[in-house]
Amino acid sequence: MTFDLRNAINAISDVVQNRPPPLREFDQIYMKVADMVIQAEYVARVFDNKSVVFVGDGDGIALSAAHLKAQGVIEYGPKSITLLDFDERIVTSFRRFGEKLRDSVDIFAYLYNVADPLPRQHFGVYDGFHINPPWGASNGGESVTAFLERGSQATKEKSLGIVVIADDPDLPWTQSVLRDTQARAMELGYLVAEMQPQLHLYHLDDNPDLRSCSCLFRRVDAMCMETTSEPLSNSRLRNFYGRESPLRVKYVRERVTLNTGRESDRLYTLESLEVRNG
Ligand SMILES: C[S@@+](CC[C@H](N)C(=O)[O-])C[C@H]1O[C@@H](n2cnc3c(N)ncnc32)[C@H](O)[C@@H]1O
Repeated sequence: MTFDLRNAINAISDVVQNRPPPLREFDQIYMKVADMVIQAEYVARVFDNKSVVFVGDGDGIALSAAHLKAQGVIEYGPKSITLLDFDERIVTSFRRFGEKLRDSVDIFAYLYNVADPLPRQHFGVYDGFHINPPWGASNGGESVTAFLERGSQATKEKSLGIVVIADDPDLPWTQSVLRDTQARAMELGYLVAEMQPQLHLYHLDDNPDLRSCSCLFRRVDAMCMETTSEPLSNSRLRNFYGRESPLRVKYVRERVTLNTGRESDRLYTLESLEVRNG
């Protein structure tokens, strides 16, 4: 893998500039830029010429992969990208940026909450999925398996899935969640095709050293595929975003501002110059 690092970082910088501020209460914690370059190039390579669904993507890895190709930094990338996310700000900014990429990739984005069954139009239609879910420190990894199941339901028989979750050998909860995620993926007919341990860092004030891995799953047993998509049970919503932080919000809605293309006018006021004579 060789590419021009400066051009790559400048391309990712365009995507970063387009993202809404992260909401910590929903585990939106953005990946650091150098690691986004690594992950986006990897995604572009794994899903070259394929249709891929991202179940949640605040980081903007999907757009980064597409933009690297559109900017000529790399020569490969997905044929189409679909985002399913419960945050309307992310869906809107994704569509807005995707408009600029439409000559090289088909981009779609829909509001969707993993607590709900996967809509029929997304069931079993994609070549691959990518998730970076809430990492499940306080719910035994249930938030990870919820996203994993939706990604699996959205993909065809022969498909690949990338799962990005916490990985620190000194933090036992990360290792239990990783093991249980792999076990659930195996029940769903996947094997672990590649594992890149402790790969990415995040803008996470209270734990700046916590890394995530990138685990690539390949489905080898179609007999284990789920044939329906059910709502998440109430017990699976508990501690979804951390201790005492259940999944209760259906959608994060965007507030319309009159300052289109500028910082929200709710965040600042303007104080005028005194009017001078002459
Ligand atoms: C949970 S965050 C994980 C951290 C990741 N680095 C990020 O900030 O994007 C990943 C994405 O999942 C989305 N998300 C969170 N809860 C969701 C839910 N219940 N249904 C669908 N998407 C959700 C967030 O909006 C975000 O885009």
